[in-house]
Amino acid sequence: MAPQRRTATKAPEGNGASERRNRSSTKKDRAPREVQRLWQRPWLRTAGLGAGLVLTALLLWSSLGADDGVAEVLARRGEVVAGRFIEVPCSEDYDSHRRFEGCTPRKCGRGVTDVVITRKEAERIRSIAEKGLSLGGSDGGASILDLHSGALSVGKHFVNLYRYFGDKIQNIFSEEDFQLYREVRQKVQLTIAEAFGISASSLHLTKPTFFSRINSTEARTAHDEYWHAHVDKVTYGSFDYTSLLYLSDYLEDFGGGRFVFMEEGANKTVEPRAGRISFFTSGSENLHRVEKVHWGTRYAITIAFSCNPDHGIEDPTFP
Ligand SMILES: *[C@@H]1O[C@H](CO)[C@@H](O)[C@H](O)[C@H]1NC(C)=O
Ligand SMILES: *[C@@H]1O[C@H](CO)[C@@H](O)[C@H](O)[C@H]1NC(C)=O
Repeated sequence: MAPQRRTATKAPEGNGASERRNRSSTKKDRAPREVQRLWQRPWLRTAGLGAGLVLTALLLWSSLGADDGVAEVLARRGEVVAGRFIEVPCSEDYDSHRRFEGCTPRKCGRGVTDVVITRKEAERIRSIAEKGLSLGGSDGGASILDLHSGALSVGKHFVNLYRYFGDKIQNIFSEEDFQLYREVRQKVQLTIAEAFGISASSLHLTKPTFFSRINSTEARTAHDEYWHAHVDKVTYGSFDYTSLLYLSDYLEDFGGGRFVFMEEGANKTVEPRAGRISFFTSGSENLHRVEKVHWGTRYAITIAFSCNPDHGIEDPTFP
């Protein structure tokens, strides 16, 4: 279900294997000669060379990855990722904030999973975003809806939809919508906690946590400019773990709009897929950007967590 913690389970095996290797190497190096004899059999040599070529081709293919040959793909739209985790060294960004042992990242990295939120759930949660955003929408290509604060993009500004629409909001959203929102938030929180080996209760939902709807319309204000590379912890000091739940499909619902982890030498992309959770530690070890959307409409929800309880926010409740 959640990303595998390979490092933790592998360590003891690895030690055992190297001990065995050390013991057998004292037996006068019998193994290498056997290997040499085997290697002299022509069919084995051919098979070996064949395997080598296939391996080289596979390595080349995976390093080139994307069609544009520029970025590696961490998760493709068409695959179902059962849990993928890549550890990266933590940046020093966390040092300038209060540390919460057992929560503040000591293990950093990024993960993707398609098996925590079903596509059906993603569809239902997307309809919450559609309903809410149909009440407003930015003049530019990027609109947000924040059910916690009530912020909704309208034209070049934001309104508080709870204040603006008052009781009418009960005709738009339902109790079940808010229930689902809470369940999804909970599942995402558990996924992050498991992947980083921390307790879920040490994570506090923080702001901004919001729906986004992006289309190809040109930006009108700075709020519409979502595509710049940034570090979440620099933008929002409270963030320690960031997650995205995608609610539409790359190349089915929209073009462009891939998520890109920016690294020297090789950018790594996550292709959005409805129900896919992408999550990562919020420091500059995970500098990232979102490509401009070229066509269609891209829906996602950003769910952020802080280790500092003072930065915690409540789940939204049905008004
Ligand atoms: C994009 O969304 C805005 C509302 O936020 C809308 O006015 C505009 O027509 C949309 N553009 C396209 C190309 O669909
Ligand atoms: C990574 O992406 C950035 C911005 O899109 C680009 O300028 C850079 O050339 C890319 N790096 C590599 C190695 O592809």
